Amino acid sequence: MRTPSPDAVDAYLENVLLGQDEVLEDTLARSQQMGLVPHAVSPLQGAFLHTLIKAIDAKRILEIGCLGGYSAIWMARALPEDGNLISMEIIPSVRAVALQNIKDAGLDHKIKVILGEAKKIMDSLIEENQSPFDLIFIDADKVNNSAYWSRALQLSKTGTVIIVDNIVRDGKLIDENSIEHSVVGSQRVLKDIQITPGVTATAMQTVGAKGWDGFAMAVIDDVELARS
Ligand code: DHB
Ligand code: MG
Repeated sequence: MRTPSPDAVDAYLENVLLGQDEVLEDTLARSQQMGLVPHAVSPLQGAFLHTLIKAIDAKRILEIGCLGGYSAIWMARALPEDGNLISMEIIPSVRAVALQNIKDAGLDHKIKVILGEAKKIMDSLIEENQSPFDLIFIDADKVNNSAYWSRALQLSKTGTVIIVDNIVRDGKLIDENSIEHSVVGSQRVLKDIQITPGVTATAMQTVGAKGWDGFAMAVIDDVELARS
């Protein structure tokens, strides 16, 4: 056998572990039909988020960047009956696609997709004194990752898990001379995570269906310290 590709291994793992899922396949098909960018998490990454949510017994999830609702569906499916997920999307026509996908997945009672700019929405949630989230998935425009991180801390409690998607980008992350806004955004948020007291963090590289990328993951050990 020639050296297999990460893509082929992803296909193998998807086939063995996940099998067919009509709802999620329809979600991706509609998203593509409606011209959405193909930036949804991969099936195995969706299953990772789903598994993590069950492992930490999360009941309240915040997602920054909804797109077609693919990851929101994966995550909301892991929630107990009284759990809920708030997502946000800045483009009205994209949000409309997400709402249809979420409705078809039978999850409209669990997922709310707020229309607007994520920073402003997060500021409103902070101002409203929303009860803290158990898991926050940051997956929107990478240039604002730092702003999302600082706001996520305000929406956290001790024990909250925060994930920041797409930090590696074919290794571009380590180019300290990069002027790409998304790369600089990822470099900045990692430094922010590092200097935030009261958090434990790591980052994992990923290969496969979404190419070479990775995510950072942090858990809040002491929320008062993390906000100080
Ligand atoms: C991009 C954004 C994503 O959230 C992702 O998972 C992959 C790519 C992008 O902006 O290119
Ligand atoms: Mg992403």
